[in-house]
Amino acid sequence: MSLLAAHAIMLADGVRGSAYRDAIHAAVRPGDVVVDLGTGTGLLAFFACQAGARRVFAIERDASLVGLAGAVARANGCADVITFVAATSAAIELPEPADVIVTETLGHFALEEQIVHALADARARWLKPGGRIIPADVTLVVAPVDSAESARRIAFWGGERFGIDFRAARRWAADAFDAICVTPDDLLASPQPFVSVRLDTLRLPPPACWAGELAFEMRRPGHLSGLAGWFEATLVPGVQLTTAPGAPGTHWKHAVFALETPIGVEAGDRLTVALGALVDGRSVVWSWRGEVERPRRARVAFDHSTIDEVTAGRASQTAVPAATPLFEAAAAAAPHLDGTTTVGELAERLRLRFPDRYPSLARAVADVALVVRALA
Ligand SMILES: C[S@@+](CC[C@H](N)C(=O)[O-])C[C@H]1O[C@@H](n2cnc3c(N)ncnc32)[C@H](O)[C@@H]1O
Repeated sequence: MSLLAAHAIMLADGVRGSAYRDAIHAAVRPGDVVVDLGTGTGLLAFFACQAGARRVFAIERDASLVGLAGAVARANGCADVITFVAATSAAIELPEPADVIVTETLGHFALEEQIVHALADARARWLKPGGRIIPADVTLVVAPVDSAESARRIAFWGGERFGIDFRAARRWAADAFDAICVTPDDLLASPQPFVSVRLDTLRLPPPACWAGELAFEMRRPGHLSGLAGWFEATLVPGVQLTTAPGAPGTHWKHAVFALETPIGVEAGDRLTVALGALVDGRSVVWSWRGEVERPRRARVAFDHSTIDEVTAGRASQTAVPAATPLFEAAAAAAPHLDGTTTVGELAERLRLRFPDRYPSLARAVADVALVVRALA
């Protein structure tokens, strides 16, 4: 898809555009200085102009879009108010501070477009004391799903193409961040919030790690194909934007953290999941591991991470890794990685070292497996 086609889809999204227009008209007062971080085709800058802003700094790292947005600004009588800046926000200074910073750099699961890092930097350097930020907060929500589409995408890699056995690629397919549309009927349990991020109070350095333990009880039988994720944002108090399944449709899809093999579940089965995101300002590494407890049947554990994309070369040299539980697990396991100790023995050592963190051996085995995979 061309860049322009992608922006046309965003412009055509009436739910998104109306919510941002309402929020900007509520937050911007006549005479304000406004920053539109990631202006694209200029939509939010034009709303700020309509709301009476004295000056709008419209920042866009893609120079070709800045030319287009400038032409639209001239055609709409906004050219004297909007100053377009073709650059990445972190790389520039502004001549005066802002009353309002607005951005729509929200990914399917909110964090992928680095909204947290970009806003933390912009707020620290440009926002006047008492200034406003749109969106004010965003909550990431998760639910287990039975999605035929997601299962089909993974199963694609389970067979032969042109006589070549592609089954080895199946694990890669499941370890990727994917986005599809799920419906309320696909949900196997009530959604749970994963994290809530106050975007209007971010400080430097922004958090590098988001992690949460979630527990779900299945409300119907089905095949657990993965976890779906979406976001609910408060743009300003009273103006919400949600991409939840069943809500009025937007151009956003739903993040899907797939399982390599769907797990058969019954109503009442319990799913526990540890979901994590490592964010360094350039990329996000997701991990999703957990297990399904099924009365009278074997527990089934799963353990996925998009870490392989990073080891393939996307890690930033300046990123400061957070001291997450997995790092501590790696440090605890490392002295015993002597070529003779089994995964089970390493997991037992982890349980002895962190008994609260590892109530089950399966959870410790899952962490050891992640460490071993990362180091192999
Ligand atoms: C999702 S689009 C939204 C565009 C426009 N604001 C709208 O609402 O239609 C996000 C835009 O922000 C730009 N962008 C993202 N992060 C940026 C940053 N840190 N500095 C400058 N531009 C950025 C991207 O290139 C993209 O054009």
